[in-house]
Amino acid sequence: MCSLDSLSPDHCGLPAAEDRSAGAPVPLTAARAPDGRALTEAPQETHTWHDAYRSPAQRRRRRRAFPRKLRLLGIDRADRRSRVLDVCCGHGEALEELYALGFRHLVGLDITLDAALVADGRFEIHQADARDTGLPDTSFDWILNIHSMHHLGMAPDIERFINECWRLLKPGGRLSIIDFSDSPQIRLAFWWFRQSWCQWTSYLKTFGRMVSEEWCFLKDYLPQFPAVWRCLLGSRFRVESLRRGLFYFYLTLGKEADGT
Ligand SMILES: C[S@@+](CC[C@H](N)C(=O)[O-])C[C@H]1O[C@@H](n2cnc3c(N)ncnc32)[C@H](O)[C@@H]1O
Repeated sequence: MCSLDSLSPDHCGLPAAEDRSAGAPVPLTAARAPDGRALTEAPQETHTWHDAYRSPAQRRRRRRAFPRKLRLLGIDRADRRSRVLDVCCGHGEALEELYALGFRHLVGLDITLDAALVADGRFEIHQADARDTGLPDTSFDWILNIHSMHHLGMAPDIERFINECWRLLKPGGRLSIIDFSDSPQIRLAFWWFRQSWCQWTSYLKTFGRMVSEEWCFLKDYLPQFPAVWRCLLGSRFRVESLRRGLFYFYLTLGKEADGT
């Protein structure tokens, strides 16, 4: 599996790895095992990426988009007593939207924690690797993974993640995923937003920086997409709903009520 330093900075249009932590301090904690080893060997998001991702304009944009995204996954119709886990919850915009919808048993998990989210008493927040969470068996009714699967590594990592979700879900539980699928539109959009000549406002500059970093993950992940897709659709889960848009797919998988 590759590490961040093994990715080509030139290819991604980013500064060398040792320069990437420069800039204002960020209230984030990268997950570490007790012996100091990083909890994931997959490429990790840099400070540049986190700075761009948590900018107020980007957060507002995501918050506006979540009501529609959650509707497409079907979770807006779920029992409000459901215990919901948002795996790779980032800064918590999906959790906030679920809270606004009336859900009260909300758990977030991410490899890198946002201090403000940890301090938010409405949510239970865990720092862990999505592929091996350490959370108890059959403890959730619904698991979400939004715009994050391509951050988890290659097809074998995705398989580990799917198996982990199976373990965490109660019988009858659901797993909903939104992510990129490999398409010419995705490649074109990522190429377009990485070009400096189309970044003529500060919003587009921030967006361009984020897109450049996302491309570090996607350039290796997209060629693996057919294997990832087979792993999702060929898993033990049944497909409850699937919608493929120009850029994203919206997939909800179900675990049978008898747990098989
Ligand atoms: C593109 S962000 C998406 C965040 C959020 N779901 C959203 O839609 O705004 C990807 C997130 O995945 C997290 N992440 C990356 N690798 C991870 C891993 N192995 N385990 C858990 N979280 C991980 C990152 O820290 C980051 O917050």
